[in-house]
Amino acid sequence: MTMKIGIFDSGLGGLIITKAISEFLPEYDYVYFGDTKRLPYGNKSHDEVSEFTREAVDYLFRRENCAIVVIACNTASSRALRQIQQEYLPANFPDRKVIGVLIPASEVASTYEKVGVLATIGTVASNAFQIEINKLNPNTQVFQNPAPELVPMIENGDLSKAEPLLIEYLEPFMDKNLDALVLGCTHYPMLKQEIGKIMGPKVQIISQEEIIPQKFKDYLVRHPEIENKLSRDANIKILVTKPTENMTDLVKKWFGKMGINII
Ligand code: DGL
Repeated sequence: MTMKIGIFDSGLGGLIITKAISEFLPEYDYVYFGDTKRLPYGNKSHDEVSEFTREAVDYLFRRENCAIVVIACNTASSRALRQIQQEYLPANFPDRKVIGVLIPASEVASTYEKVGVLATIGTVASNAFQIEINKLNPNTQVFQNPAPELVPMIENGDLSKAEPLLIEYLEPFMDKNLDALVLGCTHYPMLKQEIGKIMGPKVQIISQEEIIPQKFKDYLVRHPEIENKLSRDANIKILVTKPTENMTDLVKKWFGKMGINII
């Protein structure tokens, strides 16, 4: 039994979810794959995001022997997941799994009447949150707004310009009388407090790192054929496709002290 859990994101932002999952389920072995070379995915075409995501999943299966991959990137989940599940997996790895992060957040969002979704251009263009939320509850009103400059800013590690950008991106939600706001991008939990402050106490912030660990555990319970194959040495490996200047600092800040492998 040497199979691991893969977690994929376009950059290092997915480390926040990785930290939450691995603290909740510490016994398993994890491999994190951050595509720092090709970040951001948010303003890339559907086909590019699909191809890059498939390549990352393929790497995690073939080279790292993952039994399951969590696509922690919302843009990749909304652009690439369906095709991977319906075409790539049956043709290449019928006994492995790939899951995303959109549905757990949509399940929580669908319990509210008026919901905002802050996400990348790609996620908003795909309409994936609206579709998933309204599948669960057709009465939930969904308002979406893209925030194209947040991810590059967060990955650069400089949050000094966050406030004016957030005020601009959250402005379209202000007259909607929202009950909740979905942080529809892996990177936005880094700005959760600032976003909460601007939205005010009446708006519930739905943040994926608070939801995914329990949902992932439930998934493994429902899929013993995967869970039984997972190794339990409590190891975590971080892979990136390109070294970035502040990579060590960000990993330390978002995850903890950790070696990083460049592939
Ligand atoms: N982390 C990705 C997401 O959740 C997007 C970041 C990017 O634009 O690459 O949508």
